[in-house]
Amino acid sequence: MVSRVIPVDPFDLVVFGATGDLARRKILPGLYRRSLAGQMPPTSRIIGAARSGMTPQEFRAFAAAALAEFVSPDKRAPKAEQEFLDRLDYVPVDARGNDGWAELAGKMRGGVVRAFYFSVAPALFGDIAERLKQHGIADDSSRVVVEKPFGTDLPSAQALNATLARHFSETQIYRIDHYLGKETVQNLMAVRFANILFEPLWNAQYVDHVQITVAETVGVGGRGSYYDKSGAMRDMVQNHMMQLLCLIAMEPPYHFDPNAVRDEKLKVIRALDSVQREDIVRGQYLGGAGQAGYLTDAEDPDSRTESFVALKCHISNWRWKGTPFYLRTGKRLRARVSEIAVTFKEPPHSIFDDAPGWRENVLVIRLQPDEGMNMKVMIKEPGPGGMRLVQVPLDMSFAEVLGEDGTDMPDAYERLIMDVIRGNQTLFMRGDEVEAAWAWTDPIIAGWEGQRPHPYDPGTSGPEEALMLMHRDGRRWRDIR
Ligand code: BG6
Repeated sequence: MVSRVIPVDPFDLVVFGATGDLARRKILPGLYRRSLAGQMPPTSRIIGAARSGMTPQEFRAFAAAALAEFVSPDKRAPKAEQEFLDRLDYVPVDARGNDGWAELAGKMRGGVVRAFYFSVAPALFGDIAERLKQHGIADDSSRVVVEKPFGTDLPSAQALNATLARHFSETQIYRIDHYLGKETVQNLMAVRFANILFEPLWNAQYVDHVQITVAETVGVGGRGSYYDKSGAMRDMVQNHMMQLLCLIAMEPPYHFDPNAVRDEKLKVIRALDSVQREDIVRGQYLGGAGQAGYLTDAEDPDSRTESFVALKCHISNWRWKGTPFYLRTGKRLRARVSEIAVTFKEPPHSIFDDAPGWRENVLVIRLQPDEGMNMKVMIKEPGPGGMRLVQVPLDMSFAEVLGEDGTDMPDAYERLIMDVIRGNQTLFMRGDEVEAAWAWTDPIIAGWEGQRPHPYDPGTSGPEEALMLMHRDGRRWRDIR
C-alpha cells in the first residue's frame, strides 16, 4: 500500500536554533523528506535563525552536510536535495538583543502560514516570543513550536506556560512530544476506537495489568550535563511514557479533535494515584564491555541521577480501579525496544483443567523496532495425545501487512511539523496536560531526594529490584529483546 501524501499550504517556517543538534539530526532531514515526498508546496521556505554569523550559503552547506549524514541513502536524490536547499535561508539573530530581527521581519511574506520552531533552551522562549511580537514577525495566526524539556517541575512549567501565554494563545502553541508522532502511537487510537473488538474488554474487569517498556541501548555520553539534572523520570516518564499511558487508558473522545483528545488524556493524568515509595525502583548503569558507566558519562562523578526507572501506578477511575500499570524505561539495557503489553485476565472458568500450557492472552503493541501488534492466543497443540494448550501469536507487522518497508513512513518529527503547518494540535500537548504530568511527577522525585539508585550492569534488563517489583505481585516483566 503506497502512503497518500496530501500537500500542506505554503508556509514560512523559521527555525530558531537552526545550527543546533536537533535541527541537524531531525528537523532539516525530516523537512527534506517531506519535500521529497511532494508534501511541501514549491513556494514554502525554511528560514534558519541562530546566533552564529553564517551566510545563507553557509547555512545551505550546513544543511547539505546534515542530509548527507542523517538521510538514508535510498532517500538521497541530488535534484530533490538541491530543490530543498534552495528553499533555505538564514538570518543571524541575537535572541536577547536587537540584532537580526529587522532583517528577519523583512523576509516574512504575507498570505502564507507562519510557523516558528523554538529549538532553543527554554530560558530563551520569552525573549524570542517578545521580539517576534515587537517586530511584527508573528501575529495572531502564527504558530510556535516548543521542544521538551518543558520545565523541570511544576513551577517551572507554569512559568513557561505563562511566558508563552503573554504573547500567544493556546491554539497557537504546539508543545512537541515526539512519541506522539510515532506511527504506532497513533495506531493505538485507531486500534482502540475504530474496532469494536477491544474496547468492551478494555477495563479492570478483563485487563490484569499493563506493562509499558521503553528500553534503550545507548547511554547518556555527550549529554551528561543535561541528563544529570534530568534523569529518566524527567527525561522519559513525565512526557513520553505518560503520553503512552494516557492513550492506553483514556476514555473514547467524542471526536478525533485536538481538545476532545487532550481533555481525555488530562483526565487520566488527574486520576493517577500518587506512587508509593515501595513501588518505584531507580537504577544507574555501571560500566562494562568497553563502555563507560553512568558516573563517567555524568557531569558529577558522585551523581545520584537515575538512568533507569521502573514503577507501578494505579488509575483511580471506574474503568481502571484495580488494574496496575507498570512502567519501565532505562538506558544501556539489553535491547532497544518500546512496547506496550496489555495482559488480559484468565477466563472465569477453565474446561481444560488438566491441560498443560495455559497462559493468559496478551496484546503487544510494538512501537519500535518492527512496528506492529501481536496478540497471544491459546490454541490446541497440534497432534494426537490429548488436549495440550499452546500460546501462539496472531502477528501483524505493519511493514508486512501494509507493504511498507518503513522507509516511506514519515518519522515522528516530520509528521508533527506538517501537523503544525496544517494547524492540527491533536498530537501536541496542551499546557494543562504538561502541568498535570509535573504535578504527578514532582512528589515522586522529591521522595527519593539524596538516595542512591541501584547499580545495574549494562546489557541487562536493569536492576534486580525492578524484577522484584513485579515478582512480588505474582507477575513478570516481558523480556527485553
Ligand atoms: C528523548 C530523550 O526525548 O527521547 C532521550 O531525551 C531518548 O534521552 C529519546 O533517548 C528516545 O527517543 P526514541 O524516539 O529514540 O525512542
